[in-house]
Amino acid sequence: RGDPRLKAISDAIRVMPNFPKPGIMFQDITTLVSNHKVFKDTVDIFVDRYRDKGISVVAGVEARGFIFAPAIALAIGAKFVPLRKPKKLPGKVISESYELEYGEDCLEMHVDAVEQGDRALVIDDLVATGGTLSAAIRLLERAGSEVVECACVIGIPEVKGRSRLDGKPLYILVEPS
Ligand code: PRP
Repeated sequence: RGDPRLKAISDAIRVMPNFPKPGIMFQDITTLVSNHKVFKDTVDIFVDRYRDKGISVVAGVEARGFIFAPAIALAIGAKFVPLRKPKKLPGKVISESYELEYGEDCLEMHVDAVEQGDRALVIDDLVATGGTLSAAIRLLERAGSEVVECACVIGIPEVKGRSRLDGKPLYILVEPS
C-alpha cells in the first residue's frame, strides 16, 4: 500500500476479456514478466518479505506459479518444490484434489520433496476461489512441512480481504483491474 511499484505491477497485467471462455476476465501476467523492471520489482517485494523468515521451501503451483517461485527460492536460499498437475512426477507422490467450477482437478507433490521441520512458502500467480492454494497447503502439511504463508501476485478482493486461507496467512500484491 502506497508502494509505487504496486501500481506499475497492476498496470503491467493485461486483462483479456472472455478468455478462455465467455465471462472470464483473464489476468495475463506474460506482459508483467516481459517487463524486466516490473518482473524484478515483483520478485523483490516477495524476497524482501520472506528473506528473514526462516523459509526453507518455496513451493510453486503449476503452471504459472513456476514463473515466480524459483526466482524467490534462489534469492532467499530455499529449495524449490514444484506442485504439479496429475501424472507428471516420476517418483512417489501424494495427491490432493480441489473443486473447479465444473468438476475437479488435482495437484501432486513428491513425498520426499520436503522433510519434517521444513518451513514452506506457497507461491502462485493468482488466487480466485482459493481451492488451488488449499490443496497446496494440504500437500505440504501431509508431507511434514509447516506452511508459513501463501503469496500471490493477484487476488480477487473477497479473498484479499480475508487475508487468511485455511488458517494460513495470505499475501497478495494487487487486485484484478
Ligand atoms: C489458475 C491460477 C491458479 C488458480 C487459481 O490456474 O494460475 O493456479 O487458477 O484459482 P483458484 O483460486 O480458484 O483455485 P489454472 O487452473 O488456470 O492452471 P494453469 O496455471 O496451469 O493455467
